[in-house]
Amino acid sequence: MSAPEDWRRWVVYQVYPRSFADSDGDGVGDLRGIIGRVGYLHRLGVDVVWLSPVYRSPMDDNGYDISDYQDVDPLFGTLADLDELIAELHARGMKLVMDLVVNHTSDEHPWFTESRSSRDNPKRDWYWWRDRPANWESLFSGPAWTLDEQTGQYYLHLFSTRQPDLNWENPEVRQAIYAMMRWWLDRGVDGFRMDVINMISKDTSLPDTTPRPGSRHGPAFQYFICGPRNHEFLQEMYWSVFAGRDAHVLTVGEMPGVTVPEAVLFTDPARHELDMVFQFQHVQLGFGANKFDLRPLHLPDLKAAMADWQQGLAGRGWNSLYFGNHDQPRSVSRFGDDGPHRIASAKTLATVLHLHRGTPYVYEGDELAMANAPFTAITDYRDIETLRFYAEAVERPGADLAALLAAMARMSRDQGRTPVQWDASPGAGFTTGTPWLAVNPDHTTVNAAAQVGVPGSVFEHYRGLIALRHEDPVVTDGDFELLLPDHPAIWAFLRRTARAELLVAANFSADVMDAALPLDADWAAASVVLTSLNGDSPLQLPPDLKLRPWESVVWRRARS
Ligand code: GLC
Repeated sequence: MSAPEDWRRWVVYQVYPRSFADSDGDGVGDLRGIIGRVGYLHRLGVDVVWLSPVYRSPMDDNGYDISDYQDVDPLFGTLADLDELIAELHARGMKLVMDLVVNHTSDEHPWFTESRSSRDNPKRDWYWWRDRPANWESLFSGPAWTLDEQTGQYYLHLFSTRQPDLNWENPEVRQAIYAMMRWWLDRGVDGFRMDVINMISKDTSLPDTTPRPGSRHGPAFQYFICGPRNHEFLQEMYWSVFAGRDAHVLTVGEMPGVTVPEAVLFTDPARHELDMVFQFQHVQLGFGANKFDLRPLHLPDLKAAMADWQQGLAGRGWNSLYFGNHDQPRSVSRFGDDGPHRIASAKTLATVLHLHRGTPYVYEGDELAMANAPFTAITDYRDIETLRFYAEAVERPGADLAALLAAMARMSRDQGRTPVQWDASPGAGFTTGTPWLAVNPDHTTVNAAAQVGVPGSVFEHYRGLIALRHEDPVVTDGDFELLLPDHPAIWAFLRRTARAELLVAANFSADVMDAALPLDADWAAASVVLTSLNGDSPLQLPPDLKLRPWESVVWRRARS
């Protein structure tokens, strides 16, 4: 199957290299491991692979702290391996999108080593140095400004102390980044997933923020999210890097806190900024004071969060669609049912996600219904965000550590990072050594070997959804209408072009659910395209629904 040329028809698959496939038995995934699995990705049918960072890095944040943008870390392999991966993907009509982490570098990047060496170093101004720190809180706990003893000034790091923020106000910084990006495109990569790219423009007065109760520090999002020059910088990037290339360069910007009106501007093709953004509204539902302070999640809120973006970007921008990635727990555990209805709910989640309007992102292992691991102790975790948050709680008198650990088992980023389950062997087919993060013990039953080519498997369901997108233009082009927005358990919507319409209806509960759709009776004659219950006929024909636990059905009809 050859990939359709309109990039809006592509499906992206995210590889988190550390956890995908380990070829040399050191317990960490690597490029040769990925090369060995290109056939698997091709069989799934995805068009694009997004590779989380493989650059040289001290691995303070698993590679999101880069010390050399133009080399591969030996942990993952060599540049030659990466070239080979690109060639293997291209040979099958697939593309490679690299992670671009340019809000910050590692503190071991030569730019920062120079910058910190003296106050009058020519690269001093490539980062944010001040005599007096603002009271901003870092996104990985603790203050966002740290004193550098050598020169007696503070530097800004929105993430860990080892991830100093680049100063995008300095044109030399921007030119150096654009040159590096051109180098990658010339080497054969097909696009970029841009890490926290809505944090690159700061309020340059760097004002103090309102502290959290009982703390000197507080969140300072208003001073660095979608800042004053964000659009200008991205347009400059477009004209400096992407314009005039033969093939479309696929771009997606990760944007915590982005709003619908901002996203319209970022993704309006006429403005030449980005193809799409990752918004966070739906994955932050139910957060209290922070992500480990969880409230119940109500389906109408989740539907509305997705529908707001469908409506808001319709006709101008373009959505990215995701339920999970390397920063999120497993989607089947979070939004589905990883107990008795695991298979049906994994398929239902995929159906609902892939049939919204936008570009779907499959996160490695979701196509196998991988679930959260039964982690109980802090020693189970490796993620810097989790470990730092826990360490801070330990220092806080009265903190409920048992409750925190329970919340971490639900929300830690490590839940999305356990090794991909290829087979039932002790290392899950991921490694012959000791994995850097435990494999989920359920790999004995939940794995690729048990699913690829097996009718009714979650893998084959994903294949069907991806093929449907490639075959039926209504999936990409149809407009979107949410039905029954207030129903507590049914997620139903229509997709419609002038020629065809799809009706998607899903039961997000473990009970049989009834609902009458506000649709005409002719829907009873529509054909069933896909179901989560292995082709079982629906109990009733639309517009009257009766759906079994976690059942989802897709109907299609031509429009006369
Ligand atoms: C993004 C990445 C995350 C990383 C952070 C800092 O949110 O997805 O994994 O820790 O940026 O680079």
